[in-house]
Amino acid sequence: METELLKKAVPPLLGWYRIHKRELPWREGRTPYSALVAELMLQQTRVEAVKERFTSFLRRFPTAEALASAGEDEVLKEWEGLGYYSRARNLHAAAKIIAKEGFPRTWYGVRALPGVGDYTAGAVSSIALGLPEPAVDGNVVRILARLFADEETDSPALRKKYAESLRAVFPPETADFTEALMELGAIVCVPNGSPLCGECPWNKLCRAHLAGEEENYPVRAEKRARRVEILNVYVLRCGGKYAIGKRGKGLLAGLWEFPNEPADRAAPTPLGAKGVLATKTAKHIFTHVEWRMTGYLLETEETDPRFVWATADEIREKYAIPSAFRAFTEWVK
Ligand code: ADE
Repeated sequence: METELLKKAVPPLLGWYRIHKRELPWREGRTPYSALVAELMLQQTRVEAVKERFTSFLRRFPTAEALASAGEDEVLKEWEGLGYYSRARNLHAAAKIIAKEGFPRTWYGVRALPGVGDYTAGAVSSIALGLPEPAVDGNVVRILARLFADEETDSPALRKKYAESLRAVFPPETADFTEALMELGAIVCVPNGSPLCGECPWNKLCRAHLAGEEENYPVRAEKRARRVEILNVYVLRCGGKYAIGKRGKGLLAGLWEFPNEPADRAAPTPLGAKGVLATKTAKHIFTHVEWRMTGYLLETEETDPRFVWATADEIREKYAIPSAFRAFTEWVK
């Protein structure tokens, strides 16, 4: 089903690309080496910034051999302004390999070069080597998620799935196809604000657009809501000592706490209290849980043997009570 839709989407995309593609320096007089340089530069840097630096880099190091025989300082200097200098070191190392062994001829060979991941290997293989190897980055995920109105959130598994879908429909114009997908994401099917659906070659095919919901794709990974736990916390005092207990497994395991219980009972457990001396509420936010606590300072007649009874000094010096209970340790004096 999706392969059928994608198959239909290829010709209008290629037709659109030939008319609307931007003139970019790495699209002129391309060699496998120059494509590799461009893709490494474009990994973490905007097209506009790369445009300014690509040409002078290629003028200085026109071939893998020229780059391989340069010193590291020269290479880093020429990379200046692009940032993420490990890319420059990787490119330098890759050039030494290429100068010795020739440019790889397969996706695996390209992937094995320093600094090259799945995306860059796909881009270089399809753009420079004529291989039907997809390059799926966030832009390609976005345009395909919209085309298919796919409810999945972005993930390595989704990128793999899309790579498989693209592999099944790869046209002979491998370079144009890969760059057309990138171009559509960059200038029409843009991430923020309204995509320019009126100008899109897929506007009669795109399921998200046909439903008027292109902004909803790709579906954002939902931040999981925190679980809220409502607790009663009892600070029991008896003859200058306070009741504490050791927490079991789970959150704050092995630390000490004041007796507490979920506040889902009709009334707080009496615990032999003579009277309530004070109450206060407090909140503590953990990564996945939020505690909303009501604390009771209680004077009791006896030291309930289910608890350890400790003086204020002992609690300060010996027993680690997590800061989630800080509001109530203030009662311990
Ligand atoms: N981003 C990554 N590779 C690109 C390319 N070859 N053209 C335009 N943008 C890109």
